[in-house]
Amino acid sequence: MKINFKKPGKDALVVNINPKNKDEIVKESGIKTLFLKCEEEMTLRKLFLLIRKIVAMAKGVKAEKVAFDFADLKFKGIKISETELGEIIGTQLDLANYEFTDYKTLPKDGFNFVEEVFISGATSEIEKAILKGHTIAGEVNKTRNLSNTPGGDMTPKILAAKSKEAVKGMPVKVTVLGEKEMASLKMNAILSVGRGSDEESKFIIMEYFGLPTQAGRKKGRPVVLVGKGVTFDSGGLNLKPSGAMSGMNMDMSGGSAVIHTMALVAKMKLKKNVIGLIPSVENFISGKSYRPGDVIRSMSGKTIEVLNTDAEGRVILADALTYAQKYNPSVVIDVATLTGAAVVALGERMSAIFTDDDELCLMLEKIGDLTGDYMWRLPMWEEYENEIKGTLGDYTNIHNKDSRYGGATYGAIFLKQFIKDYKWAHIDIAPRMTSMAGEYLAGGALGTPVRALFKFIEEEK
Ligand code: BES
Ligand code: MN
Ligand code: ZN
Repeated sequence: MKINFKKPGKDALVVNINPKNKDEIVKESGIKTLFLKCEEEMTLRKLFLLIRKIVAMAKGVKAEKVAFDFADLKFKGIKISETELGEIIGTQLDLANYEFTDYKTLPKDGFNFVEEVFISGATSEIEKAILKGHTIAGEVNKTRNLSNTPGGDMTPKILAAKSKEAVKGMPVKVTVLGEKEMASLKMNAILSVGRGSDEESKFIIMEYFGLPTQAGRKKGRPVVLVGKGVTFDSGGLNLKPSGAMSGMNMDMSGGSAVIHTMALVAKMKLKKNVIGLIPSVENFISGKSYRPGDVIRSMSGKTIEVLNTDAEGRVILADALTYAQKYNPSVVIDVATLTGAAVVALGERMSAIFTDDDELCLMLEKIGDLTGDYMWRLPMWEEYENEIKGTLGDYTNIHNKDSRYGGATYGAIFLKQFIKDYKWAHIDIAPRMTSMAGEYLAGGALGTPVRALFKFIEEEK
């Protein structure tokens, strides 16, 4: 979608926002007006929906051009700056316009997208913020493309190729380790999970050094992002029931979010050092699959007693979190579609966040609210460690009595065993893997939490 700040022609759909409107489109002397109802008491969350609804309604009547005034989206009750509002507008318009069309035949009159938006009443500073929002949304939408791609067309090898493509021409170094290289690094946790698949497992490393080499922000300690890159999760030998297996092509959504956050950071030339790590495997079944009861010696030296091959995400992340140590990171954030239990606990409106660092948690929650990548804290007391003590190995990869209770926390507390010498937060994005009805967003992947990660890196000191 093109965003511009000129006067629209007569062919644009003009948006009028008022709590007294009812949602309708009226045509008068050649000009179409969208009368859009907003709430009497607006909140930031409702604002996100309102902006997206503009696009949804325009698409509904095949309006290719839309015009509105910036001031119409300023609401008294919403305490954000004008540049923050600009960024939100720029982002939300494009998120609402998105559809995944790669596998659809082009209709005779083309796909139904809003081609051009005209925004009046913005100062040049706000215009810049709107365009920044537009750039952010571009990367979020590319994240959605990767996640939406069917499992057969999105193997670890292809994901690795896509990570290179994502940062082509940018100062990001991408290194892809294959199974041989991982074996020499003793990354047995990743290798074990991937062994049941004919597709070779990959470990994707993306490095961006945006700090001038002399400037010593905490001696340049980088932010490390870790993303779960399971390109298809069948459950392995603990095979998922069929209902639960569909959608598991999107089990690399953490990985795709990290890939395009890296691209965004480089595109915006942030003066930060940022590393992206994506362990990528297919969790499949064959004569070589890892088994329930297997004990794996992970890269850290600690052993993992596999009680359920479907709790594979935490197993591959264990090695990635160990690998992260080599960067002496200031903070590590991992992002993973880790547990169905997070969805059970929270519903589909927010991701779960786990960390022992209250300050980091507060910052991420606030950024979540501001970007729409909502997060809600769940507990990770050390007491929970009792239930992942192994009989044969150090830690079991699920509750050692196979209890269904507190599943999201057991995923998190397992990961915590592999954290050493750095601040860490774990974001379980399973609840936000796909959109829900009423969000004015295309079905399928959401691209969370690219916006939040980017803002976090921008603001982190
Ligand atoms: N990828 C799934 C979690 C998931 C489920 C993400 C639904 C998005 C939507 C993960 O690997 C998994 O299978 N988790 C198991 C853990 C269990 C075996 C302890 C689950 O949630 O059932
Ligand atoms: Mn699984
Ligand atoms: Zn999984």
